[in-house]
Amino acid sequence: MTHFLPQRLLITGGAGFIGSHLVRLMVQKYPHCEIVNLDKLTYAGNLENLRDIEDAENYTFVKGDITDARFLDDLFYEYRFDSVIHLAAESHVDRSIANPMDFIMTNIVGTVCLLNTARSAWHQAVEGKRFYQVSTDEVYGSLGDTGLFTETTPYDPRSPYSASKASADHLVRAYWHTYGLPVVLSNCSNNYGSYQFPEKLIPLAIHNIKHQKPVPIYGDGQYTRDWLWVEDHARAIDLVFSDGKIGETYNIGGHNEWRNIDLVQLLCNIMDRKLGREAGTSAQLITFVKDRAGHDRRYAIDAQKIGRELGWQPSLQFAEGLERTVDWYLANDQWLHNVTSGDYLRYYAQQYGLPH
Ligand code: NAD
Ligand code: TYD
Repeated sequence: MTHFLPQRLLITGGAGFIGSHLVRLMVQKYPHCEIVNLDKLTYAGNLENLRDIEDAENYTFVKGDITDARFLDDLFYEYRFDSVIHLAAESHVDRSIANPMDFIMTNIVGTVCLLNTARSAWHQAVEGKRFYQVSTDEVYGSLGDTGLFTETTPYDPRSPYSASKASADHLVRAYWHTYGLPVVLSNCSNNYGSYQFPEKLIPLAIHNIKHQKPVPIYGDGQYTRDWLWVEDHARAIDLVFSDGKIGETYNIGGHNEWRNIDLVQLLCNIMDRKLGREAGTSAQLITFVKDRAGHDRRYAIDAQKIGRELGWQPSLQFAEGLERTVDWYLANDQWLHNVTSGDYLRYYAQQYGLPH
């Protein structure tokens, strides 16, 4: 197996949730690699997430949009990247239902712009180059009560978000088959941990429980997700990037399925204990609301391939990961306050019609 050692790496979307964990890992692990974080700083991108490494010598932040082809060409010309890890995306399913166009633009058009730029910058000399597409398990569609998504499960996306990611994945593979662009992909299950924007279930629930606001559960709450600690995902991305086989896809998951209602109940119990509330108090905040349109029933990943071929396993038990996550949000009130002001308040009122 050839081990890829980057020298000039472009990470897109590095100011977001997963991206910021990945940037931190890579900047610390590869001190001799020049790492550029390209991010548009949408509502989901936040440079506060990277304060601890922003002065590192091998790190540069560049604000920009991946749909701007000329800007990308100039950036590649300036930095001569040998590799790209592409995470920039619109990532929230509910927003994709309300406004699909942003998802088409960033997730599909933006990915194609990056592919085109990499292709022309690397031209015929693709030796020692690598383009990594970070994707999601949602492209595989919805599972019934049994079964797992493998790397060969046919794509069956059902939301504008997952359809846009599926489309981008297909295009990444097309550039490999058609032009020989050296690509690698991974599809991961739901992540949780610090710096996740509080529109996603776990930070939203923590935030609302803390402030004694209703915790919205869609439909019957029996929807199931496979949760993975975000730092385990970042570690998996590093492995796939370094040792993954060109042209291949690796599924990443936590072997950790939870029904939404059980997960939120568990969070309520943890929060009662941490906030010194009487047991059962926070669970009274659970509020069943109108279901998400086209809501996928169950996601679950078969992560055997990455375990077998690259030796990756999740490191953290969910109980411990959730405790750490709750502790982080409770200790970082200012971060939560900063990201939940302004535009987010308008989104929240529109989405739930509930007080924030
Ligand atoms: P996020 O929404 O927290 O971050 C996305 C980042 O992309 C933000 O910093 C945003 O500013 C940036 N961005 C958006 N549009 C851009 C544009 N046009 N140009 C440049 N930057 C832009 O998302 P996340 O949860 O960290 O997800 C990162 C990636 O991982 C996405 O590609 C997502 O599909 C994938 N993924 C996420 C999960 C999950 O559970 N969150 C699971 C599997 C895969
Ligand atoms: P989410 O965090 O949006 O991730 P995804 O849709 O990408 O899986 O949602 C996780 C699960 O939680 C999903 O089944 C939808 C559900 N959910 C709620 O029940 N209430 C909420 O307010 C949110 C945001 C999600």
